[in-house]
Formats: sequence, C-alpha cells, structure tokens
Amino acid sequence: MSNNLGIVIGVAKPDQVTFESRRPVSLGEYVILHYGGSKVLGLIERSSITSDALGAAIRNYEEAFESRQVAEANKRDKSYKGHVRILGFLEDLKKGKSIIPSLPPEPGTEIYEATPEELSGVFAPDGSQWLGAGRLLRNPDVAARINIDKVVSRHLAVLAMTGMGKSNLVSLLAKEVAKINGTMVIFDYHDDYSTLDMGRNSNLMDARINPRMLAAEKLAAVIEIQENASNQMHVLRQAFTQDVRQKKGDDFWNALIDRVRAVGAEEKMYRETAAKVEDKIEDARRKFSNILDPGLSDPLAMIKNGKVNVINLVELTERQANIAVSYYLEEMLDDRKRATRNNHEESRVPIKFTVPLMVVIEEAHIFIPKEEDTDTKYFAGKVAREGRKFGLGLVIVSQRPRGIDSNILSQMGSLAVMRMVQQDDQMQVSAASESLSRDLIEQLPSLNPGEAVFTGQWVNLPTFVKVDEVKERKIGGDQKAVEQWTKLSQVKEMTKETSESYIPSGYLQD
Ligand SMILES: Nc1ncnc2c1ncn2[C@@H]1O[C@H](COP(=O)(O)OP(=O)(O)OP(=O)(O)O)[C@@H](O)[C@H]1O
Ligand SMILES: [Mg+2]
Repeated sequence: MSNNLGIVIGVAKPDQVTFESRRPVSLGEYVILHYGGSKVLGLIERSSITSDALGAAIRNYEEAFESRQVAEANKRDKSYKGHVRILGFLEDLKKGKSIIPSLPPEPGTEIYEATPEELSGVFAPDGSQWLGAGRLLRNPDVAARINIDKVVSRHLAVLAMTGMGKSNLVSLLAKEVAKINGTMVIFDYHDDYSTLDMGRNSNLMDARINPRMLAAEKLAAVIEIQENASNQMHVLRQAFTQDVRQKKGDDFWNALIDRVRAVGAEEKMYRETAAKVEDKIEDARRKFSNILDPGLSDPLAMIKNGKVNVINLVELTERQANIAVSYYLEEMLDDRKRATRNNHEESRVPIKFTVPLMVVIEEAHIFIPKEEDTDTKYFAGKVAREGRKFGLGLVIVSQRPRGIDSNILSQMGSLAVMRMVQQDDQMQVSAASESLSRDLIEQLPSLNPGEAVFTGQWVNLPTFVKVDEVKERKIGGDQKAVEQWTKLSQVKEMTKETSESYIPSGYLQD
C-alpha cells in the first residue's frame, strides 16, 4: 500500500513539480503521482523546511528564542517542501523507456511514497541479464540490479576518488559474472582480485610478454632502454634481426647479445653503446625472467572461456604493463572479430573466445591517458568503437577521470560514479554522459564509500546505489598504521624481555 505523502502546489511543469509534504523528505527518495490515468515516477531532488515564526527576518537571539516557543505551539508553523523531477510513466520505465507525460499534474494532485514493489520493477527487473549490485541508497529494501548485456555491448566506466569503492564494485561484478559462467578478463595492476572467491570459475595468471614478437621500439621499452637514448635504440634495431627473432628460449637472448656485440665491433662509434645495450639485455633477462618469455607461443592460451581471468600485472613496470595490456587487447579484438565473421566458415586460425567477453582496465588514466598516445590507448579506442559489434566489452576504472582520454570515455555507454570532489573530474564525467544531470553531479561530494550513482544503458534510470561490500577483499582496504605500529612495538617489547633473560646486561642499553 502506498502512503500519502503530500500535495502538489505552486507552478507545476511537465518535468518538475513542487509539493507540500506531511514530513521532511530526503533527497533521492522516490515518489508516485497519479495523473493522466497512469502512475508516474518522480525523484526528490530538493528538500526544504521553513518556519513562519522563525523566518530569516529575525534580528536577535531573544527574538529567535521567543519565536521558537510560538513555532512549537503552532502546528501550522512548519512547512516541508519537496521538489520533484518527473522521471516518466512507471510502466514504461520498467521497460527501460522514459516517457514524460506531456501535461503537468494539476496543483492539488496527491503524491505518494513509492512502494518496494513499484520500485523493484524499475530497479531490479527480472531476467538473467540483470545481476545484483546492491540496494537502493534511500530505499534499502529494494535491490539494485544492472544489465550485464549492456556492459558487454556498450562498455562501462567506474570513476571515483581513491578508496571510494571502485575495485569493490568490479569485484562484485566479477563474482556475479563467475556465477553465470561469464567470461571476463581483469588486468590486475594492484593485486586487488586474487583473493576473490569465485569457486571454480576463477583463473589467476601472471602477465607474460614474448620479446620475440615485439617491434624494436617495444623491445627497447620492456628492457628499460630510455625513450630518448637514440644510440642504444639504433644498436638494438640493428641487432634485432629476423634471424634473432627465429631463435627460441635462451637461444634468443644469446643470439640477441651476440648481434649487439657484433654491431659494436662493426661500427666503432657504437662500441660503448653496444656494451650498455648488452648490460640492459642481461639485466632485463635476469630481473624480468618471469615476465619476458621468448618461449611463449600464445599469450591468450592461458585465458579461459567461461571464467573470470585475473591477469596479474604487479611485477611489470608501467611501460611493460602498457605493452602487455595492448598486446592482449589487440589479440582479443582480432579473435572476437574472427569469431563473429567466420561463424559459419572454416577459420584457419583457431578461435579462442567463442563467446562474448568483458575486459577490465584499472588505472585507466595511466593506460588510456589524455595527453599521450600509448599502445593500450590505441587498442582500447578500437575496442570502445568496434567492440560492440564483436561482443567485446570494455570496463575502465580510474580515480583520475580528468586524466583519461575524453574520446574513449565518451564511448562508455554506462557509468558508475562514486564520491568525487574535484571540479575538473566532475566536468570530465558530465561531458562524457548525457544522463548525469548537474543535480546528480552536485550530489557526488556527499557520497560515502560504497555509495554510487549508476547511469547509462546498464540501468533503466539513473540510480543511487549502496553497493554490496565484498567481504573477502583484503588488499584494497586501508592500511591501519597505528594498529600495526602498536603490534610491532609489542613484539619488540617481548623480544627485549626474552633477550634480557640471557643476554648480559649492557648489550641492550640502546
Ligand atoms: N560497497 C562498500 N560497502 C562498504 N565499504 C566499502 C564498499 N566499497 C568499498 N568499501 C570500503 O572502502 C575501501 C576501499 O575500497 P576499494 O578498494 O574498492 O576502493 P577504490 O576506489 O578501488 O580505491 P583505489 O582508487 O585506491 O583503488 C574498502 O576496503 C572497503 O573498506
Ligand atoms: Mg581500486
């Protein structure tokens, strides 16, 4: 049963009305209006309480003190007003269509609290593509679900300040996708996802790069030759011949070093440079032995369909990570293109991803930056533009939206936005999304960790959500410094006591 909440007053417009309420109302509450023969859903966007007796004209404390007694004695003194944005006919919203009635409601129209049943139809529709993400922020008895099909086909950006729950949301999505045997690839830059409990559907692996397959410039980047070291670049380019590329495993490194030495011997002016390049190669070969693998045949081989694949990037430098991510992206896009086009034909190259998949890139401001052209940016741009046709969805995650390439950001069909206070971040986000109104943007600084606004194609309506917390996550949590310091000093005290018992006094003076 709906509860009567108030009555429309003042100037009513088709898309917004003001009402006088029985009680104070909260921002973000949903209300129902009956007019034009249908139920219409509205959202409270502004709320105020005023008192006749305690008006702004009060000039001093005594007057305020006396007026308060008058106000308390008079039941009609307080006015609770709510400003409602009309969202559309309820029945249409349940189908994902927002149709605003052409006529405004008449002043005097009743306003009701929306019931959980009415809201569930819009925010938690039935259907296997709707996955659970949490509860409505102001109506916690109503589930908030998202349409995962739209994430795969139209992409998603998860944006918020640091520590506000971005990785928690991605973890939740990963767990939900695992439950329905979906395919997902997460590039895990901070080892945020290895502890997730996804039953048999999780597949953890370390990122690998095959140096033999790289262009000379990229090989230079992965073995940490500085970008501006043009002589070293020259030597490496000369040495990185087709012959060398043919060699497998350790033979590859040895052949490459032999060629570098040969270049140094042939061209006198490069002798010292060649020695430096040799050192770089030896260093990289040792330091990155578990990342650079000249024996690697197909980097996609370890990725599995129907699983959440977590590719650990922790040990990679930023440039290496960039090369690895772009390489995986390129291969995945190619594979999905072939899968879609050659559906009924014989494909000579075996198809890896026989079903659609979604790819998560954390730290998107590093991999897909505004100012610079990176390899990942090139392929992420392609996926953002073309992925829709091939069933390859992109999820980009960042605490620095102002640093992400605007073109790619604007291709993201859905957004999850959490607390965000910086104005240039807010502006970038609002430029990327039509459905994030100024009113919603103004709410962003007041959100708490785990509270989010979902907009775009994956929801029927812009939605304030309290995202469920994923309990088994350990790493993303804040470090508790004082607790750890205290523990350390307790351990020190204990070892001091036990040491004192057998170490002659005098040893422990400082
Ligand atoms: N939905 C939630 N409910 C309750 N607490 C949450 C929620 N989401 C996040 N938190 C809390 O906030 C902490 C940080 O969350 P998370 O690691 O997801 O943030 P983040 O936005 O990914 O941060 P960063 O930018 O540093 O990667 C979590 O450890 C948890 O304590
Ligand atoms: Mg995170």
